[in-house]
Parts: sequence; structure tokens; C-alpha cells
Amino acid sequence: MIRAWLAEDTPAVAAIERESFSDPWTEEMLSASLNNPAFFGFVYEEGGEVCGYVGVIRPDDAEIALIAVRSDKRQKGIGRQLLFKAIDHAKGNGAKNVFLEVRVGNMPARALYDGAGFLPVYVRKRYYSDGEDALVMVLPIK
Ligand SMILES: CC(C)(COP(=O)(O)OP(=O)(O)OC[C@H]1O[C@@H](n2cnc3c(N)ncnc32)[C@H](O)[C@@H]1OP(=O)(O)O)[C@@H](O)C(=O)NCCC(=O)NCCS
Repeated sequence: MIRAWLAEDTPAVAAIERESFSDPWTEEMLSASLNNPAFFGFVYEEGGEVCGYVGVIRPDDAEIALIAVRSDKRQKGIGRQLLFKAIDHAKGNGAKNVFLEVRVGNMPARALYDGAGFLPVYVRKRYYSDGEDALVMVLPIK
């Protein structure tokens, strides 16, 4: 089930961040985001456990800032459900576009975004601390 991300979910979200990214958001960063009125987030809960999350900044010109699924729950459709939930929420808040950025070499995420209709906008060269490029993508909301 997908539901709103609550403060008590943040430790579980931080644990998924740590296993998913070389430069994870810390629990403090995640808590600060949750307190930001321009941020909204959802978690995917199964059996009382948080298995994935999505976080979006700015309701009007939305940017997906965070999305990940716990490693043992990947490739079961959870990431796509979370992404569509975030898009629907942005749409409901009047967003004209949904933006995101992704490491050029992150093939699972790129396949997810391509399949959802996101289009490449531009490449930010050596954007990440390890030198990898970021691809900025946009989904125009119809
Ligand atoms: C990217 C991520 C969120 C996808 O979540 P998921 O629950 O595994 O994805 P889904 O099962 O919903 O798959 C949806 C689509 O994504 C793509 N996809 C997902 N995993 C894939 C993989 N390992 N290889 C290739 N494509 C993949 C496919 O297009 C898939 O559609 P299909 O099943 O019809 O082929 C997940 O791999 C993850 O948490 N990765 C680590 C964190 C991360 O990189 N986040 C993105 C930051 S930009």
C-alpha cells in the first residue's frame, strides 16, 4: 500500500537510502525535507515495513528528489507505482511538468523513467562527486 510518508518512517527510509546510493541523504536531511512545506513524500508499506519511497519538491513545478525501493523488493512493480503516485500528486497540485535527474549509468532507473514517458532535457557534466554525468529529464503533464 502507498501512503503518506510520516516522520516515524524516516529511519527506514534512511536505511534504504544507505543501501541504494553512494551519496545517500542522511536521516537529518530527510527529516528536514519532511518539515519543508514544499516537499511531499509517499512510502510503500508491506507487512508493516517500509519497502520504498518517493519524495517530490515543489507542488507547482515538481521535481522528484528521491525514489528508491529496498533491494530485496525491487523488480516487483513498486518503483513504478511510487513514481506514478508522485506524478498524480504533482498533477493534482497543478504542476505543468515533472522533472528529475538521474545518473547516466543508472540503467534500471532510466528504463523506469523512459517507460513512464520522461524525456531527456540536458546533461549536467560531472555533476556527481565521483565525476558521473547527470541526465535531467522532464515529463510534461497533459
Ligand atoms: C530504480 C528503482 C527505484 C526501480 O524500482 P523497482 O521497484 O525495482 O522498479 P519496477 O519493478 O517498478 O520496474 C519498473 C520498470 O523499471 C525498469 N527496471 C526496473 N529494474 C530494472 C533493472 N534491474 N534493469 C532494467 N530495467 C529495470 C523496467 O523498465 C521496469 O519495467 P518492466 O518491469 O515492465 O520491465 C530501483 O531499482 C531502485 O531503488 N534503485 C536504487 C535507487 C535508485 O537508483 N533510484 C533512482 C535514483 S534517480
